[in-house]
Amino acid sequence: MRNQYQYDVLVIGAGAAGLSLALRLATNLRVAVLAKDALEEGSTLYAQGGISAVYDSEDSLDSHIKDTISAGAGLCNEKAVQYTVENAKAATQWLVEQGVMFTRNNQNEDDKSFHLTREGGHSHRRVLHAEDATGRAIETSLEKQARLHSNIDLFEQHNVIDLITKNNNDGKSTCVGAYVLDRKQQHVFVFRARKTVLATGGASKVYLYTSNPDVSTGDGIAIAWRAGCRVSNLEFIQFHPTCLYHPQAKSFLITEAIRGEGGKLLLPDGSHFMQRFHPKGELAPRDIVARAIDHEMKRLGADYVLLDISYKPKDFILKHFPNIYQRCLEFGYDMTKEALPVVPAAHYTCGGVMTDLQGRTDLNNLYAVGETAFTGLHGANRMASNSLLECVVFAMAAAKDIEDSIQGQPYPPLLPEWDESRVTDSDEEIVVAHNWDELRRLMWDYVGIVRTNKRLERAQRRVDLLKMEVAEYYGNFRVTNDLLELRNLLLVAELIIQSAITRKESRGLHYTLNYPQTLPPEQTLNTILTPPHRSAQEQERVHWL
Ligand code: FUM
Repeated sequence: MRNQYQYDVLVIGAGAAGLSLALRLATNLRVAVLAKDALEEGSTLYAQGGISAVYDSEDSLDSHIKDTISAGAGLCNEKAVQYTVENAKAATQWLVEQGVMFTRNNQNEDDKSFHLTREGGHSHRRVLHAEDATGRAIETSLEKQARLHSNIDLFEQHNVIDLITKNNNDGKSTCVGAYVLDRKQQHVFVFRARKTVLATGGASKVYLYTSNPDVSTGDGIAIAWRAGCRVSNLEFIQFHPTCLYHPQAKSFLITEAIRGEGGKLLLPDGSHFMQRFHPKGELAPRDIVARAIDHEMKRLGADYVLLDISYKPKDFILKHFPNIYQRCLEFGYDMTKEALPVVPAAHYTCGGVMTDLQGRTDLNNLYAVGETAFTGLHGANRMASNSLLECVVFAMAAAKDIEDSIQGQPYPPLLPEWDESRVTDSDEEIVVAHNWDELRRLMWDYVGIVRTNKRLERAQRRVDLLKMEVAEYYGNFRVTNDLLELRNLLLVAELIIQSAITRKESRGLHYTLNYPQTLPPEQTLNTILTPPHRSAQEQERVHWL
């Protein structure tokens, strides 16, 4: 069997970031794209709201920058914000060239302008969207282009176990590829590459309730950390305020654009409450809305609050939110006639693998883009619809850096094969399933919207135990997809908890009852965690060169 693949660029992840990057590079380079499930399955596919960019004549780049920085609660990297906002038009126009059909204002035949919706934190209408399924339009368009491209090889059902690195004399490691589990064949392949890019999305699956699909298990963050990359700001987990409350809905997202178009949040008795928490009411930044809902649910012992747009004409609702309308009907709710029960759920990982503005990480030849990465754009709280934008803008930047730096760079030599000589098939898969459930519940209960020192310490103790069990399991048994994901989630959970413990204040998405105050700007910093030396066991399994 051919065990080793060789490419110019290995892209791990096939969402907006991974596919944008692959398409930009494929003109001159051979690119492999790995997806651990079906190609399109990832957070991009489920993104509803849209992608922000300044198109309205009343709007300005300065205003977009200001809103992003204000939502970021004092921790945005202003260079990253400026860079992103300035490149937003180019990024969205590139998406249009790839076939993305954003909704247009078509009342007038000559009017080809984009319809811009509004979301929390934005002081203007600035969100381009494709009805209420923007992510689907982006993902399927990029997928179509990638499938047609002769320089892109797509590997579905392939999950990365770990990166392969080589130590340089200067003490800095170089990434030379990855060990990859082919889930169908249950076989581990070696992918060698001159450049490797992590674009695996976020880690919201670490929480019991999440708007994200099952694949959001923080893989890129975990494998980068194990390979020696620093991570930053992982305490800032964004909880989306409004996911449908229904036992079968799996936290189906109800887009913020509903509030942007006038939807009201109500308590179960029908009364308004958001004005008590913020002058912008329903359009306050997400952390405030999510915390207000959490507070009211706990105060009243309620299972949910209500989101009501039924007072708008039926035609308006069907035109703007056709997919959500349909999906809610399937769950027995007619949003044109009644309010929807909603709850917050984990939605977005603001921190991640530290990168510069070209997407470069701490390792030579290793990049990270999209939700996996920490560029500093989002600070302590991401503004709605800036994330798809970040994916496309930083894919563009990383692609340019890769093209500029790959010339003359040799291919890695043949690499050691994955060693399975001392492992057997698992005898107790139930351990993995049980630990998955335990982890997700404890993260929800102890590391959620409102935190305390005691809860975080309790969570850390539980995670330590689970990590020990999983390390033992990983050392003795053949890898499976579930085991790899659990191993990654446990590591990311630990990094989230450590980051949260480190922050001695409440800021943005991190709120703790022990430190309710926000520190003055000169006393606060991004949280940066640096990996310790790797364990002997890890070195043995991962074949550090
Ligand atoms: O509410 C939404 O449609 C989500 C948008 C976002 O997370 O950017």
